[in-house]
Order: sequence, then C-alpha cells, then structure tokens
Amino acid sequence: MVLQIFVVLLILCQIAQGQITYNYKSGGSDWTGTCSTGQSQSPIDISNIQGTCDNSMTIDVSLYNQNVQTSVVKDQSGLSSAGDFGSLYAKDINGILVGYEANQIQVHIPSEHSIDGSGYDIELQIYFSIKKEFQATLSGQTPAVLNNAVVSIFYTIDSTQSSNFFNVWTPSSIGTNFSFNPATVFNGTIDSTNQYYSYQGSLTQPGCDESVNWYIFPQSQPISQIQYNDIKKYIQGDLTFAGGHGNNRNIQSVNGRTIKLGNVQCEEQFIYFFSFFILYIFINYFIFKLL
Ligand SMILES: *[C@@H]1O[C@H](CO)[C@@H](O)[C@H](O)[C@H]1NC(C)=O
Ligand SMILES: *[C@@H]1O[C@H](CO)[C@@H](O)[C@H](O)[C@H]1NC(C)=O
Repeated sequence: MVLQIFVVLLILCQIAQGQITYNYKSGGSDWTGTCSTGQSQSPIDISNIQGTCDNSMTIDVSLYNQNVQTSVVKDQSGLSSAGDFGSLYAKDINGILVGYEANQIQVHIPSEHSIDGSGYDIELQIYFSIKKEFQATLSGQTPAVLNNAVVSIFYTIDSTQSSNFFNVWTPSSIGTNFSFNPATVFNGTIDSTNQYYSYQGSLTQPGCDESVNWYIFPQSQPISQIQYNDIKKYIQGDLTFAGGHGNNRNIQSVNGRTIKLGNVQCEEQFIYFFSFFILYIFINYFIFKLL
C-alpha cells in the first residue's frame, strides 16, 4: 500500500514537472499520444529522394570556435550534453531561412535514421531551437515555420581512425564538467558545402512533437572500436537501461513527405548545362566546316 502511494506520488511529480517516463525496450512502439498518432514522425529511412533536389537549399552550422563547458548526462533518453554550442542558419524545405541556437547534443546507438535502408553505428544529433528574433518575424506564417532543428552526423566504426568529438566527449566523465571547442571537434563534418538531406519531422522522444527541421549529413565519420565500446557499455551493455536495446526509436512512415537534398549539383541543372555543351560543340563544328 505504501509502495502504491509512493508510485502514484512519483508519477504525479513527473507529470507536474512535465516529464514523461518511457523506455526503449520496444523501440518506442509502446509510446502514446503524438508518438503513436502523429503523421510526420521521426526517424525515417531516407530513400527515393529523386526529383526533390533543390539548388536553393542552404545551410550554415556556425559552432563556437572557443571552449564551451558541459557535462555528459545519462537518463532515460540515453546519453546527452546540454549547452549552447553555436548557431545554425538554414532554409527549411519551403525555402524559408531560419536562425537557431544549439541547446543539446544527443548520442544514439545505433543510428535512428537510415539511408536507403542502411543504418549506422552511431547518430549524433545537435538540437537547436529558433532564435527569438526569427520567431518574432516568422510566427503565424503559412506554411508554418518549425521551432526546432536537428543536425545529424553518422559515425561508423573504423579500424584506422578515431573521432575528434568522442576523444573529448566520453561517457566515463558522466556528471563532471569539462570543456571542448565545438568548431574544432566537428571541423569538416558539417561544413556548408557538404551534402545533406532535409525533411520536416518530430522529436524522437516522447512527446514526439512535430516541430523539427531535420538536417542529416550522410557522409559518415570514423569512430574507433574503443570509443564505440565506451558508449555501448552505457546503453546496450547496461541491461537496466533498455534490456540490451539501443536508444534508437523505430523507423517511422514517411507518409509522402518531401525530403530535399542540399549541396549537390541537381540533375535538371546538369542536363541544362550538358545541352549547352552539346550545342557549343555543334556550333564550333559548323563554323569550322564553313571556314
Ligand atoms: C558545471 O557546469 C554547469 C553549467 O555550465 C554550471 O552551472 C556548474 O556550476 C558547473 N559545476 C562546477 C562544479 O563547475
Ligand atoms: C579546420 O580544419 C582546417 C583544415 O584542416 C583548418 O585550417 C582550420 O583551422 C580548422 N578549424 C578549426 C576551427 O579547428
């Protein structure tokens, strides 16, 4: 009886704090509310993106080139770090430029998103929320501007290389403060010229709010086996976390959503230039003949 009252009080406390208790034992298939009824959920498998190439998509991830203090936190979502790591300026799939500031880094093992059906060993997600000045000018607009953005970076175990980020960010430091330079540890991985995918989806944890512009960089980065094992130990290796499961939510239905590709030479553009090239050769040929 005392135990029941305690449990009820605990649940009431969590509701009061706006926290929802959940776990990854079935990849989120038992999560309720928007998580089960939403039609624009994340993560998704990114495939069939032909015809959605858009040369006007732009992204600028301006992480601070100075030390930022943070710590590694382990909770029901897995491993994360809170802090302001810098800014993001990016166009959403409707062509609207939005500015955001970073507030959290989450590490998911294995990856949540997949590309053409293939997942990755780790997906690092940098969470951003809209800057006040952008919210003020863009609110009430149609189509609606989403308040959050996440930049995803994939990591694949590599036998010869290690990750700069996971050199400074280690779960063994849980609870103790440390500093790192965001611009340095992600140097080269999320540059404004790298190819990326973008679509509109949700948070990948309850309440699964459909408020996220996703920016996913498909070029995976190296992580050493030792670095990888150090993270796995705290998630799949901790049977009290999710009974041996990772902290990745199951893949959700795309439901006909648009996925755009940024920083690639679009096919249409290529055919356009290619036909000019052919025309140029023909003209030269005829001029040559006339002479
Ligand atoms: C750790 O970092 C947090 C956030 O920056 C700060 O509030 C806290 O005082 C720091 N703790 C120590 C012991 O430095
Ligand atoms: C990123 O790498 C380039 C080339 O290796 C280097 O010139 C630049 O200083 C680096 N930037 C940071 C912030 O570490």
